[in-house]
Amino acid sequence: MPKKIWQKVINNGDFNLLKNKPLILKSWKRSVQFGIVPYNINNRDDELSHTAFKELRDKYGELIFIATPIITNLYFTLKGTNTAIYLIEKDGYILKAIGDNEILNELTKIRLVEGANWHEKSKGTNGIGTALIEQKPVSIHAEEHFCEPFHHLSCFAAPIFDTNKNLIALLDVTLLAKQAHPHLMALVIAAAKAIETQLYANDLKKRLLNSVKQSNLILNNIDYGIFWVNQLGYITYLNSICSNKLGVDASDLIGRHIEDVFNLPASFKEMISDNVKFLDRSGQIKIDFQGNTLWCQLKPLVGPLGEKLGIAFSLSPKTSTITVVKPRKQKNEITFEDIIGNSNSMKESIRLAMQAATTNLTILITGETGTGKEVFARAIHNESHYNKGPFIAINCGAIPETLIESELFGYEDGAFTGAKKGGRPGKFELANNGTIFLDEIGEMPLYIQVKLLRVLQEREIVRVGGVKTIPIDVRVIAATNKDLESEIKQGQFRQDLYYRLNVINIKIPPLRERREDILPLANHFLSKAPMKCSISPPAESILCKYFWPGNVRELENIIVRAASFCISGIITPSNLPNEIKRKTQSSNSHILTTGKSFNLKNLESLTIVEILKQSKGNCTLAAKRLGISRTTLYRKLKALGIQKEEFQN
Ligand SMILES: Nc1ncnc2c1ncn2[C@@H]1O[C@H](COP(=O)(O)OP(=O)(O)OP(=O)(O)O)[C@@H](O)[C@H]1O
Ligand SMILES: [Mg+2]
Repeated sequence: MPKKIWQKVINNGDFNLLKNKPLILKSWKRSVQFGIVPYNINNRDDELSHTAFKELRDKYGELIFIATPIITNLYFTLKGTNTAIYLIEKDGYILKAIGDNEILNELTKIRLVEGANWHEKSKGTNGIGTALIEQKPVSIHAEEHFCEPFHHLSCFAAPIFDTNKNLIALLDVTLLAKQAHPHLMALVIAAAKAIETQLYANDLKKRLLNSVKQSNLILNNIDYGIFWVNQLGYITYLNSICSNKLGVDASDLIGRHIEDVFNLPASFKEMISDNVKFLDRSGQIKIDFQGNTLWCQLKPLVGPLGEKLGIAFSLSPKTSTITVVKPRKQKNEITFEDIIGNSNSMKESIRLAMQAATTNLTILITGETGTGKEVFARAIHNESHYNKGPFIAINCGAIPETLIESELFGYEDGAFTGAKKGGRPGKFELANNGTIFLDEIGEMPLYIQVKLLRVLQEREIVRVGGVKTIPIDVRVIAATNKDLESEIKQGQFRQDLYYRLNVINIKIPPLRERREDILPLANHFLSKAPMKCSISPPAESILCKYFWPGNVRELENIIVRAASFCISGIITPSNLPNEIKRKTQSSNSHILTTGKSFNLKNLESLTIVEILKQSKGNCTLAAKRLGISRTTLYRKLKALGIQKEEFQN
């Protein structure tokens, strides 16, 4: 619009000249009504004090939080084009300004700054003020501004509406008029829409959470114990009355199949396999939970479109008065039932371990990292007559050499500088009448090996710096992923100690040598995941072919991760990490099974090399994946002559 028109309208009141620009015409008339002076920036008393601005920003905290990443993104798109972006609240106060310094400084001169008001009542016709009144996207260019000091600028503003369609804010982009481009309007509208969408999503999330909270509140405050199962018979919900009555944590049952938890009438079991009949089932049935009979009222769960979602079981008041049941199983009370193993080799190891549990003999468990040595140790403890006492695990590889002795045997007052006053008992004393689990025994320094041997022979300890002998009655279980016999040959491990420890030797084979265990284990870990899912045949095939250097622990991690990423309820190859897909035909597995120099030591170094490759030489990550401490990893790298730098590409 030529400057002349502005002059004529302002000076002569010739509004007719604007008849082709109805939006500007209306806005200028309003500006006159509001008493705006056209020749200056109308610096009225309309900028917020520091405190008032802070309060306003707090009030709009959620909006600012949601809008910031979106306008920052917009800024990155426009960066370097001398553009400023503003977020404005519904009354015209600028909440946030972001942009290139040069233009921001320029605009400070006309007080287009955070905390200033840009309503038409304050500044006459301008992008922000006019869009607030029009409640639609508006661009105001150069002389279309009512006030002359804004004539070098163009502004593009788009409104932001809340879920109730009320205008709550505005997004504006301002730049020098000579640099303005009409496409900017589309960008501003898109960004304002993105903020709106995010506001809706947040609102929805809040409402959903509220309604879930409310439903939970109701369900936990009724007098009935209730649980329900999905179409496939997996328990998906349990209210607190039900978990109290059954004496279990909801998390212990959720995700488990109803048949694995309750003893069900045969006729009902048949129905579960015939999905249709099962989901129509109503009425009463009698089920058994750990030897207690429970009467349950069944009710099909039907969705809003008539779809069958599962069945709700409510414990009838009659049975819900039954007091429960066997004591609850502690989380760390691992028993042999928790050890999954279908392969002959695992069945043999489990059989041997069960037998060993009945004795008080020292046990040596050998197996690669992550094969389940600790699980075995805990199961043996829990099934043995030491199970009333504690299970104390000590990782000999994770403790600095200088501290191992006092950790194991304790120390007396004043044994060394920094020793705790009054002394401290060691793990052997703490484990009295229970089990001590000496993990990574191969890492034990030689001079401690001598002391350990004495303890095993004498069944008594002397604290560091003490003289008194303290008798102890503990079952010792040691574990290692090293080949101790070759360590003995190299003078790293004492033969006499080896014989003392190796009274019963339980070997746990690596997972790749018992591939029939892979899927049962995978399904076992899935059954513990909060979301129910199954594994697709192509994904199964990948799992079965992989070399599993990290053994069961690696499998567990991958399954837990896949289950949390899988939305469809079926784990497909896309839910599995790329490296396992790439490595399913790994040349390593070939070397390992056919190589002439195959022994545990080679295997250890191959495993470490493999994991280091995958972790790109990051030792923290590699140690985590190998399930060993970083110190142990460094020690191993040194011993095996492996340079971690080789893998840092
Ligand atoms: N047979 C199994 N059945 C069920 N879970 C298992 C089995 N074997 C191992 N796991 C699980 O795999 C993980 C690793 O097991 P564990 O810690 O006992 O291995 P480890 O041999 O002691 O490893 P490391 O040598 O690295 O210490 C644990 O989460 C354990 O619960
Ligand atoms: Mg372990």
